[in-house]
Amino acid sequence: MKKISISSVILFLLLISNSIQGQNDKCFICHESIGDNASVLFKKDIHFQKNISCSGCHGGNNQSDDMEVAMNPRNGYLGVPKGDQISERCIKCHSNSETMRKYGSKLPTNQIEQIKNSVHWQRSTKGTEHIVQCTTCHNAHGIVSVKNPASPVYSLNIPKTCSTCHNSAVFMHSYNPSLPVDQYQKYITSVHGKLILKGDSKAADCSDCHGAHDIRKATDVKSKVYPTNIPATCSVCHSNTAYMKSYKIPTDQFDKFSISVHGKALLEKNDLNAPACNSCHGNHGATPPGVESISKVCGTCHVLNAELFSGSPHKQAFDKKKYPECETCHKYHDIVTASNELLGVSKDAVCSKCHSEKENRKGYYIGMKMRSLIDSLDAEIKTANALVNDAEQKGMEISDAKFKLRDANQAKLETKTMVHSVDFEKFKEIVSGKGLKTTNSIKDEASAAIDNFYFRRYGLLVSVLIMSILAIALYFYIKSIERGKKKIK
Ligand code: HEC
Ligand code: HEC
Ligand code: HEC
Ligand code: HEC
Ligand code: HEC
Ligand code: HEC
Ligand code: HEC
Ligand code: HEC
Ligand code: HEC
Ligand code: HEC
Ligand code: HEC
Repeated sequence: MKKISISSVILFLLLISNSIQGQNDKCFICHESIGDNASVLFKKDIHFQKNISCSGCHGGNNQSDDMEVAMNPRNGYLGVPKGDQISERCIKCHSNSETMRKYGSKLPTNQIEQIKNSVHWQRSTKGTEHIVQCTTCHNAHGIVSVKNPASPVYSLNIPKTCSTCHNSAVFMHSYNPSLPVDQYQKYITSVHGKLILKGDSKAADCSDCHGAHDIRKATDVKSKVYPTNIPATCSVCHSNTAYMKSYKIPTDQFDKFSISVHGKALLEKNDLNAPACNSCHGNHGATPPGVESISKVCGTCHVLNAELFSGSPHKQAFDKKKYPECETCHKYHDIVTASNELLGVSKDAVCSKCHSEKENRKGYYIGMKMRSLIDSLDAEIKTANALVNDAEQKGMEISDAKFKLRDANQAKLETKTMVHSVDFEKFKEIVSGKGLKTTNSIKDEASAAIDNFYFRRYGLLVSVLIMSILAIALYFYIKSIERGKKKIK
């Protein structure tokens, strides 16, 4: 008996609470009886559920069932808002934390502040009305929580919502003729886009990469997609092991990238020539670069390396065996500064991964010979450098040799690049023809300068010595003459 009464009381209360909504809102009651679109949509509106009246946005007296009274400007009726008036109505509540708290809401109240900093607010029609208002992305009636799958800004719906404008060449080009309008087309071919189309809301939508209210131009340093900010933007998901658990991919991309030669250049030195995640994965087509396209991606910046590789016997061999081109020897997220250790047939060298004395022998011997040549060039540069420093410290004029040291170092860099041809003759030509020839001439010049220094220093000593000896000899000679004179006397 008791049990039944408790559950029926709950049911009764629920029924009452449902019918309370809109019960006192005379605007809603009259409009619902007319059956207009606004009131039909309003029934599922989150504002309706919070007992907010039509007058919350339109003003007027919601206690009168007389249309003339209810919708009278003297009673605060504002009519249908247009342009910037729309957002002004919304932010009356949404930028006032006290009002929002009265409704029991803990939502942020910074939307308008953020929108005012966005690229969208910078654009206006007829100079006054900004092109986006709150209703552009949230609708005016039938607004639901952003976590509700019916919301236009629910993750799965965002790409369509943004694309109503961004897909329209006519509309977009009237504001910015140089802005591409292919983001959606590219996006739906990406791993992210395909998952979103399949209903997986965990994949990145437009707002995950660009923000919601604070969307900025990609060239704005505060944009989430400004090169130095991109790794952090992607890593919100890709470094979150719990979030990515259901996918079978690693979550170490950011960790590896941030200590790589590229990551250090981008994040520590702010070097915008270094790649961010999107340089290799694309902006909207975010996919891992396929086996054949990796060298193309790397080759957009490392042009010479890619050219030499393409002309080498490795090109065909790698293609046939489906080895990724650059990644096979350098890896990809954790690429480090290339050192001579990579070259040759030692344990850490890359050549020995595929070449040995038994297998693919020619590459083995060439790797070995290249390494020994490049080591000797390094040693010669070191010696030449030491000689130049020595001569300089001794105060000798050596600027010409010093200048040539730069040529030698340049030859060393060229040598490292020439490795990619795996053509021993060309490699040797640079090491010997350019590198060793230069170091030899530096060594000659520096040695000559040093000899010169010693010649001058010891030359002086010797002449002082000779002069002293002469002086002493002269002294004794004069003495002996004086002594002879005395004897004669
Ligand atoms: C007794 C019925 C009635 C009540 C009460 C009423 N309305 Fe209306 N309202 C109408 C009718 C009918 C129209 C259409 C009249 C027209 O097209 O001129 C209308 C039109 C509107 C419009 C559109 C005006 C336009 O310019 O297109 C808005 C907005 C509106 N009402 C809001 C409200 C609000 C807010 C309240 C309460 C403060 C309210 N109404 C109360 C009947 C009512
Ligand atoms: C959350 C704010 C808000 C509330 C609450 C609201 N409206 Fe509106 N209404 C708007 C805005 C904004 C427009 C301007 C049209 C637009 O931007 O699409 C509008 C436009 C209208 C129009 C013009 C025609 C149309 O449909 O666009 C009518 C009629 C209307 N509202 C009636 C109502 C009625 C009736 C209610 C209550 C049942 C109501 N509105 C509640 C914000 C609101
Ligand atoms: C360019 C589209 C766009 C415009 C314009 C826009 N919003 Fe949003 N809004 C979004 C998106 C997308 C989200 C969802 C963010 C998320 O899922 O984290 C959102 C979320 C919200 C939320 C939920 C809480 C929060 O801040 O995340 C509120 C409230 C909100 N918007 C209000 C507004 C108001 C008020 C305006 C006008 C001043 C406005 N929005 C203008 C796209 C927009
Ligand atoms: C009278 C005050 C008031 C006005 C005016 C108002 N809102 Fe709200 N809005 C609220 C309250 C209260 C909530 C519920 C907040 C909650 O559940 O935490 C809400 C919720 C929302 C949400 C859902 C946020 C979420 O994800 O939980 C959106 C979106 C939203 N409003 C947009 C708008 C837009 C757009 C306008 C103008 C057309 C507008 N609001 C006008 C008070 C208002
Ligand atoms: C009402 C139409 C409209 C909607 C809806 C819209 N945008 Fe835009 N957006 C524009 C216009 C117009 C520009 C160009 C402004 C300029 O170049 O000054 C722009 C610019 C941008 C830019 C800057 C591009 C650059 O120059 O680097 C980004 C990013 C962007 N929008 C993303 C979004 C996202 C994400 C959404 C959805 C949440 C969205 N937009 C919704 C009209 C819209
Ligand atoms: C995975 C992250 C990501 C997603 C998802 C994403 N973008 Fe982008 N978006 C970028 C990056 C990165 C850039 C380019 C930055 C640069 O040029 O340096 C960009 C650039 C833009 C631009 C500037 C013009 C251009 O094409 O370069 C617009 C506009 C834009 N995005 C809109 C969108 C829209 C609309 C969506 C959803 C359909 C979307 N983006 C989804 C990352 C993303
Ligand atoms: C909102 C979370 C989120 C953000 C932000 C995000 N991603 Fe993703 N990304 C995912 C999910 C989920 C997958 C699906 C993983 C899968 O299916 O293997 C994915 C897949 C990928 C893949 C394909 C991986 C594979 O081999 O299947 C690449 C590449 C990728 N993302 C790059 C990026 C880049 C670059 C950025 C930043 C510009 C980025 N993502 C931002 C969630 C995100
Ligand atoms: C220098 C180019 C480059 C940069 C920069 C780069 N990636 Fe990658 N990424 C690759 C290559 C190459 C692959 C592997 C392709 C393959 O083997 O199929 C890959 C694979 C991935 C994958 C698939 C899973 C995996 O780890 O193999 C994800 C996810 C990913 N990258 C995200 C990122 C994120 C996030 C960043 C930025 C922090 C980033 N990438 C920076 C080149 C790059
Ligand atoms: C957006 C241009 C860009 C892309 C794409 C790019 N790199 Fe780089 N890379 C750089 C820059 C710039 C540096 C120099 C960083 C520094 O040392 O400050 C560099 C450095 C390197 C180094 C170290 C060079 C040295 O002197 O030791 C290697 C190795 C390397 N990249 C390999 C790759 C590979 C492999 C890929 C493709 C998976 C790739 N890079 C993609 C720009 C790029
Ligand atoms: C067969 C292995 C191998 C492949 C494949 C390979 N590299 Fe290398 N790479 C090396 C070795 C070994 C060195 C280091 C030479 C040294 O420092 O002695 C090097 C050095 C470099 C350097 C630093 C020297 C320089 O030229 O500035 C860059 C950058 C580089 N590689 C980029 C690439 C790119 C881009 C690709 C793909 C087109 C690629 N590598 C493919 C083995 C390889
Ligand atoms: C991922 C495996 C792999 C790596 C790493 C690799 N090679 Fe090769 N290399 C091959 C294959 C496969 C061939 C073609 C088979 C052959 O001709 O021996 C080849 C061919 C060659 C050739 C041409 C041989 C001929 O017969 O004309 C030379 C030279 C060579 N490699 C040198 C090197 C050097 C030097 C390195 C280290 C910088 C290196 N390779 C690293 C797989 C590799």
